[in-house]
This record gives sequence, structure tokens and C-alpha cells, in this order.
Amino acid sequence: MSGLHTRVVESADQLNRIGADLVAEAIAAVPATSVVAATGRTPMGLYAELAARRRSGLVDASEITVFQLDEYLGLEEKDRRSLFGWMRRSFVEPLHVTDDRVVRLPLDGDLDEACVAYDRAFETGSGLDLAILGLGANGHLGFNEPPSSRDAPTRVVELSPVTIGANARYWGDAADVPTEAVTMGMSQLLSARKIVLVVSGASKRTIVHEALEGAISPELPASLLRETDADVNVIIDRAAWGEG
Ligand code: PGA
Repeated sequence: MSGLHTRVVESADQLNRIGADLVAEAIAAVPATSVVAATGRTPMGLYAELAARRRSGLVDASEITVFQLDEYLGLEEKDRRSLFGWMRRSFVEPLHVTDDRVVRLPLDGDLDEACVAYDRAFETGSGLDLAILGLGANGHLGFNEPPSSRDAPTRVVELSPVTIGANARYWGDAADVPTEAVTMGMSQLLSARKIVLVVSGASKRTIVHEALEGAISPELPASLLRETDADVNVIIDRAAWGEG
């Protein structure tokens, strides 16, 4: 069912359960689902819920393929700030997805060329079935910082001061946040068949209303979700949406 479906739920628990229902349904329908699984704080409860369902035998994710959404540049492999490491710990390992089913973003060599090759391989493959995303404080998806057009490819980006400030929550201090990153492009994300965007907490109130009700513009990349053929599911908790 394409189109954008918004659900406002009363609690973060409900957000996790409904998000997990959507992901579990997608995997049950197509066991070899290709998935992008964002890091960030918001989807963690959804992933924990999925992991609990796997342990109870309700979800079998052994055939999915997981694509990396974004990564900081300039980190050593084992750096605590690696977003790949975060994705592994929160999504890949709890769901028992094997390494051969995880596709990393390019991180070295000629990155511009590697990103073009990555997108070419992506386009000749079967594309993305499912993107699980969070909403940046500035409306970014992945690290598609404003402005990012709908056809922005996978690429190297400079992180905005807003994103660096928001990511300081994860690593302790803004000085601990790398300033450059690689992100899957808007083009790849918007081509997903199903998108689950989770939004939680009062700090997202203004940006979520702007994304869903304001102008559709590259200046607010998440607003571009309103113009895709995908089945877009936005799940927002009450703290993020407010009473209205
Ligand atoms: P958060 O991050 O879930 O930690 O708020 C969202 C994002 O930047 O995409």
C-alpha cells in the first residue's frame, strides 16, 4: 500500500511494538528482505522488541540482507563510535544475521568512485525492501543533511553543526563527533518499497511537524518522504507530536 501513513502513539513502548510489527510483517512476507537499519537512539527499542520476538521464535531474520545506512569517516575499525559497530550490536547480532548478509558502505580508497560503484551495484541488485529510519534534529535521513535533493546519491558529506551537536549525546562531547561521514543517498532510501520512520521525544516536535506539514523541500530531507511511491509509515510518540 503506497502513500504516507502517520500514526501517533501514546508511548515509546507502543512505538517500539508497532514498529516491530511492521518490520516483522515485512520479513514474514519476504524472508530475503533487504533492510537498511538506522542507528541513533530512537530505533533501539524497536530493535530490542524484534530481538525478543526472535528469541521467542516469532521472527526469523536469517535470510535478510542488511545494508549500512551511514558511517563516520576517519575512525579505526574498533572505534567505539563506529556506526557499523552500533548497528551490529543493536540489530545484526540480536537478530542472528550472519556477516555474509551485511553490506557495508565504502570507507576507503577513492571514496567518490567507490560510492558511485556502490550505487551502481545497488541499482543492478533488487534494491531496498525496507528502510528503518530515525529523524534528525535538522530533518536529515541517514546523514543526508539539508539540503539533500531526492536524487542525492550515496556520498561523502560534511556533518552540520546541528547533527554534530545531536550526535554528541551518543559520544559525550561535540569534539568527539567526527565531522565527515558517508551516507546512503536519498535516491536509494526513497526507492525503498517500505519505509518505517520512528520519531520520539519532545525535541523532535517542531521538526516532525515541519517534515509532515510544511513545504516539501531538499532543505528538510524527510519532507521528501511525502513524494515517494513507497509505503511510508511514520510512527510518532505523543511526546514528539504534542496534543494536537
Ligand atoms: P536519534 O537520531 O534517534 O538519536 O534522535 C535520529 C537521527 O539523527 O537520525
